[in-house]
Amino acid sequence: MENKIISSLRQRYATQSFDSTKILTEQQVASIIEAVRLTPTSYGLQLMKVVVVENKEKRKALVGASYGQKQVDEASHLFIICREVKISEALINAYVQNISKTRQIELDQLIGYRDMMVRSILTMPIEQQNHWMEKQVYIALGNLLNVTALLDLDACPMEGFSVDQYIEILDLKSLNLVPIIAVPIGHRHQDDSRSKDKKVRRSISDFMIQID
Ligand SMILES: Cc1cc2nc3c(=O)[nH]c(=O)nc-3n(C[C@H](O)[C@H](O)[C@H](O)COP(=O)(O)O)c2cc1C
Repeated sequence: MENKIISSLRQRYATQSFDSTKILTEQQVASIIEAVRLTPTSYGLQLMKVVVVENKEKRKALVGASYGQKQVDEASHLFIICREVKISEALINAYVQNISKTRQIELDQLIGYRDMMVRSILTMPIEQQNHWMEKQVYIALGNLLNVTALLDLDACPMEGFSVDQYIEILDLKSLNLVPIIAVPIGHRHQDDSRSKDKKVRRSISDFMIQID
């Protein structure tokens, strides 16, 4: 398994050209979503959602909103990891109710935990709250990319898009979501020259510091 993980991470790359004729199976899509859903988050709050865009017209419009990056339309599927637009007491309460139901714990017993989260999170300045949510989106991105590679699928993580235009095209305001990272996923096109590029990474000696 260890070799499978490392060889998958070596063969994955930020795919520039996808083969549109190759479509993900429902099982593959479900596995990717499950990997993102299982991502650990601070307190376990999961202040994020994954949007899967199937609509072809919208996918074409998103290419223009992504500086012409055609992967957004070409790939089999487009996943967008979004954060909540704002952290509210209602979201924290919903999480506490989920704990209560899932673990069969009386709500009364969770009030202290709830109050502690409200105190420590909602007193942060808004920019800090947003940054905090976004840091966790990137943990989810890591999981998504790793699982995609393990499934022998290809992906391109993309920050290169207009957040405002994505919000408008996908009507994300009505869902209270802000798109943070877009990830087209599918199968690489056989002519994608980037697939032959050697990986550029720091050497181990320049990357790892051992303190004895
Ligand atoms: C957060 C993030 C944003 C990125 N945004 C883009 C993007 O908008 N377009 C693109 O082609 N690649 C994008 N990349 C891909 C990186 O350039 C690529 O992962 C990096 O150069 C390492 O190469 P590799 O992934 O092929 O190993 C992004 C990667 C990350 C992690």
